[in-house]
Amino acid sequence: MSQSVSQVDPRSTWDIVIIGGGGHVGLPLAIAFADRGARVLISDTSAAAVASVNAGEMPFLERDAEPKLRRALAAGRLSATTDPAAAGLADVIVVVIGTSVDEHLNPDPHAIPRALAQASEHMRDGQLVILRSTVFPGVTRLVERTFAQHRLKVDVAFCPERIAEGNAMVELFTLPQLVGARDDRVHERAAKVFRLLTDRIVTLDPEEAELAKLFTNNWRYLKFAVANQFYMIANSNGLDFERIRAALADSYPRASDLPRAGFAAGPCLLKDTMQLAAFNDNNYFLGHSAMLINEGLPLHVVQRLEAAYDLSDMTVGILGMAFKATSDDTRSSLSYKLKRILAFKARRVLCTDPYVTTDLNLVPLEKVLAESDAIVVGAPHPHYRNLRVDVPVADVWGILGGGVRI
Ligand SMILES: NC(=O)c1ccc[n+]([C@@H]2O[C@H](COP(=O)([O-])OP(=O)(O)OC[C@H]3O[C@@H](n4cnc5c(N)ncnc54)[C@H](O)[C@@H]3O)[C@@H](O)[C@H]2O)c1
Repeated sequence: MSQSVSQVDPRSTWDIVIIGGGGHVGLPLAIAFADRGARVLISDTSAAAVASVNAGEMPFLERDAEPKLRRALAAGRLSATTDPAAAGLADVIVVVIGTSVDEHLNPDPHAIPRALAQASEHMRDGQLVILRSTVFPGVTRLVERTFAQHRLKVDVAFCPERIAEGNAMVELFTLPQLVGARDDRVHERAAKVFRLLTDRIVTLDPEEAELAKLFTNNWRYLKFAVANQFYMIANSNGLDFERIRAALADSYPRASDLPRAGFAAGPCLLKDTMQLAAFNDNNYFLGHSAMLINEGLPLHVVQRLEAAYDLSDMTVGILGMAFKATSDDTRSSLSYKLKRILAFKARRVLCTDPYVTTDLNLVPLEKVLAESDAIVVGAPHPHYRNLRVDVPVADVWGILGGGVRI
């Protein structure tokens, strides 16, 4: 089902249009702005997302967002449409469409300029365009050129999103907002939009802000890689990494940020590490090493199991298919990589997840527990905390309470 702009009433005035506003980042942002009194129109190519938003239903899990969504809809401060003409209906446009890398791990710097070239036929002079997607550095400049080629006089700012999925309704109102703009006037214009959410505005040039976002995600990915490398070293030597990590971090501030081990997955971290690698002409040893370590963890888990058991004769159960705890998002989840490896090695693989609704192959937890000869924890959902499991387990996260050694 799609809804045209005429159905959302072209005479109504909107403060902000969010292109890609039906997605994991765009929708919470739209809800947050509407919650603070702005009139927000979502423009999205996904008819399913638009229908879901207009029906007051979150298309994905985001804590505490649905009541706010319903309130905003009832107050007439939020609506969604698939009509690209929406781009002309507000002074402020926020762009938050996906920026994935391709199968060769190459980013597409033209994805956003292309989408905005299409939107530009509906736009007008004087609008402010805020880029919110995580971009390949230089995309803000490309977007400016695209508008110049279309003879549009608009202001452009780059203001990256830094929330953690699932926590948007807290973090959008508490995290400082990085505002990248070329001059004070455009900076002030973009800052005014984000002051709806927070007083904590940080000023940068667009190119600095583009790198700030990539460095943020890369830093996190590298830290997870360090933990995972240490995990594999400890584990290969028969030692429990989590006991070691907890001991060294105890009241020792210089190591307190060493994360636990776990599958470092999801739609952003690896993708943004590869964007930074591509930006630096693939001279990024740390980033590529981090990829090998983090993406290699499922293989390490299976190899450890294989060394101890004859997997070809076993049913292996995976608990948790989302890319992280308490999420329904399976995008780039390493549980699926694990499943593929196990499907090749084991007799049968059974998968379960209490949050994921998009995978018809999932089975109930009880069936996995009853029929598996070994269990691997894919995502550390709270449901699994101290769960009693009577077969061998591989629990990198330490959620089951029996240690992380495999
Ligand atoms: N997911 C996160 O936690 C997170 C956090 C910070 C930043 N980001 C960045 O935000 C951006 C969006 O990520 P996401 O997870 O929300 O992706 P998403 O796929 O959930 O959302 C993107 C939305 O854009 C829509 N869309 C795509 N092309 C469009 C177009 N031309 N016009 C209108 N709508 C269009 C899609 O239908 C979708 O609803 C990415 O650059 C990502 O790296 C994501």
